[in-house]
Amino acid sequence: MQDYREFLKEILVDEASLKKRIAELGAQISEDYRGQDLHLICILRGGIVFLTDLMRHITVPNTLDFMAVSSYGTARQSTGQVRITLDLKDEIHGRNVLLVEDIVDSGYTIASVLEFLKTRHPTSLKVCTLLNKPERREVEVPIDYCGFVIPNKFVFGYGLDLDEYYRNLPFIATVDLEKYHPDE
Ligand code: IMP
Ligand code: MG
Repeated sequence: MQDYREFLKEILVDEASLKKRIAELGAQISEDYRGQDLHLICILRGGIVFLTDLMRHITVPNTLDFMAVSSYGTARQSTGQVRITLDLKDEIHGRNVLLVEDIVDSGYTIASVLEFLKTRHPTSLKVCTLLNKPERREVEVPIDYCGFVIPNKFVFGYGLDLDEYYRNLPFIATVDLEKYHPDE
């Protein structure tokens, strides 16, 4: 695979800004759930980097589970149909669930996951996303906690992939698609 420096256009959110904002989100969440337990649900795979940093700023007792979904369509454009590919391990009935996601783009992923989770009757259900791209929204979704609102540009790094690579980068960057050649 290409070195990301060849196609990196702009660093949208640098490492220090991520750290600062995630600490703020963790403090806010800890405040809002004070005196209660929290069940974090991370949607694989993009949300994991954010989740692991965020959870270390959460001070209320918490548990963790994962689920995975795949959307039909191409890698960069979802079509609205979302399929659960990995179900939760634990029951969520009677728990305070916080869904942790990397990005809300069209909104289809979160909307379907919320519908699915509601059928299992959690006590409460909220959404925490690191990034929000409101210009791309096709279905309305409630966002309770958001790290950064970003413009309509494809981004990678900090959990977000470009054809499954570059999730490990410590910042969020935009791609110069003319310089990105995954097949060479
Ligand atoms: P949605 O269903 O359109 O809201 O898309 C959500 C999913 O698409 C996210 O969980 C990401 O996996 C992926 N996605 C959307 N925008 C980007 C992006 O700019 N970079 C990387 N992945 C993205
Ligand atoms: Mg994702």
